[in-house]
Amino acid sequence: MSQVPIEGQRQPAIVILDFGSQYSELIARRVRETEVFSVVLGYSTTADELRQMAPKGIILSGGPSSVYAEGAPLCDPEIWSMGIPVLGVCYGMQLMVQQLGGRVVAATGKAEYGKAPLEVDDPTDLLTNVDSGSTMWMSHGDSVEALPQGFVRLAHTANTPEAAVANHDRQLYGVQFHPEVVHSTCGMAMIRNFVYHICGCEPDWTTATFIEEAVKQIRDQVGDKRVLLALSGGVDSSTLAFLLKKAIGDQLTCMFIDQGFMRKGEPEFLMDFFDRKFNIHVEYIKARQRFLTKLKDVTDPEQKRKIIGTEFIRVFEEESRRLGPFDYLAQGTLYPDVIESAGTNVDPKTGERVAVKIKSHHNVGGLPKDLQFKLVEPLRKLFKDEVRKVGRSLGLPEEIVRRHPFPGPGLAIRILGEVTAEKLDCLRDADLIVREEVKEAGLYHDIWQAFAVLLPVRSVGVMGDKRTYAWPIVLRCVSSEDGMTADWSRLPYDLMETISNRIVNEVNGVNRVVLDITSKPPGTIEWE
Ligand code: XMP
Repeated sequence: MSQVPIEGQRQPAIVILDFGSQYSELIARRVRETEVFSVVLGYSTTADELRQMAPKGIILSGGPSSVYAEGAPLCDPEIWSMGIPVLGVCYGMQLMVQQLGGRVVAATGKAEYGKAPLEVDDPTDLLTNVDSGSTMWMSHGDSVEALPQGFVRLAHTANTPEAAVANHDRQLYGVQFHPEVVHSTCGMAMIRNFVYHICGCEPDWTTATFIEEAVKQIRDQVGDKRVLLALSGGVDSSTLAFLLKKAIGDQLTCMFIDQGFMRKGEPEFLMDFFDRKFNIHVEYIKARQRFLTKLKDVTDPEQKRKIIGTEFIRVFEEESRRLGPFDYLAQGTLYPDVIESAGTNVDPKTGERVAVKIKSHHNVGGLPKDLQFKLVEPLRKLFKDEVRKVGRSLGLPEEIVRRHPFPGPGLAIRILGEVTAEKLDCLRDADLIVREEVKEAGLYHDIWQAFAVLLPVRSVGVMGDKRTYAWPIVLRCVSSEDGMTADWSRLPYDLMETISNRIVNEVNGVNRVVLDITSKPPGTIEWE
């Protein structure tokens, strides 16, 4: 995950070295919340690499290993004497203690998990404004038994004598708890102390500075060349369109491929909004029929996804040739994608990332060899919530900025079995009702996703004097932080009743509405 600094690019003020904790990214986000730019790098990043980046502080994350176990991940020991302040969190603290001559042992019978009140022994620098007795989140099986020379205790808990420690002279700090998690009530105060007072960082990572720097970098990178962007209407590609428009104006061409699986009114909204209202040129590619033809008789969900992905690439390829040539392809890659795939797809000669895949979950086959673009990825330093802020600041309406996630293959994966024009019409109508009513109830922003699924089975119902034999719609509403896990939303009965009544009365082909009350896991959010 090491990352060599690129000339002209902002260098991180705080580097987080990742020892495998599930919270490493969260530490980076918390530091950025203080308006200080931070990145996560692999634990094996060397002191020399760090020197080139010249960060003002280093944070060592937690991790699942024991520092005394064979093969435990270690950092470059030179890090302790670079003169850069270091904060070790959990495993990071244990590593600091061990490498500097202290002792870490298994905390037999004293492992500490969950909330614990922190008793502050030294309320200066790191723990300024951290209240004694405030809750900190603990999660450790190992403990520090003996401190290295020069270290003192800053705080303890009932089970952990050395809960926060420091070598003030060398600006080395360690905490056994996790200040980054929300349960640690004074965690942010501690992070602020570290980045502002100990490291001397300035709060300069703001939406405005990001936009200013990104615009300049895009201009430097692209020059007078043309850039193509596949617009989906989601927050990432929409923000990107606004940013590129600001940077390079008419050198930008957006392409919107209408596969026919969007929600009701969305293609029209997209064209109206970008093309007419904001003067961002969007090529509208009508492709509904060709996608539908390809999906005829296909019922297997994976097969469906593959076909849609392949067809998307094909249309993209044809249309970019027709509209091109383009030198650059703009992609809404975000920071978490970069962390996951660091080091891949880099042209060894130029150092630029090259597109071997279109990101948008259509990435089945990749682009053909003769259609390689250079990439413009100005959002690659941002987390999703930061993209939203940038989008908002560039003038994107809340309707786009806070919209629910929507899968690339769209409604096609919310129709089980074969996708037909009739089922699509039916689902589009039901989906609109769900969204309208959830918004009307003021719950849209409390819910991660609220949508309808169409099942290809028929059941008997009665409407007026007539027997019906029609499809059911599943109401799927979930709450989630990131889509990785989810719980079904406890919607008010009255709201469910309104949704059900409206769908059965207004949507042709549906005579029943059922509710999905499965969490993820074991269910998934989508049905497919
Ligand atoms: P599942 O169904 O796996 O979905 O629980 C997790 C989240 O991912 C979204 N999703 C997709 N998003 N392209 C996307 O951009 C896709 O192909 C895709 N499939 C699922 C889903 O809506 C949920 O938010």
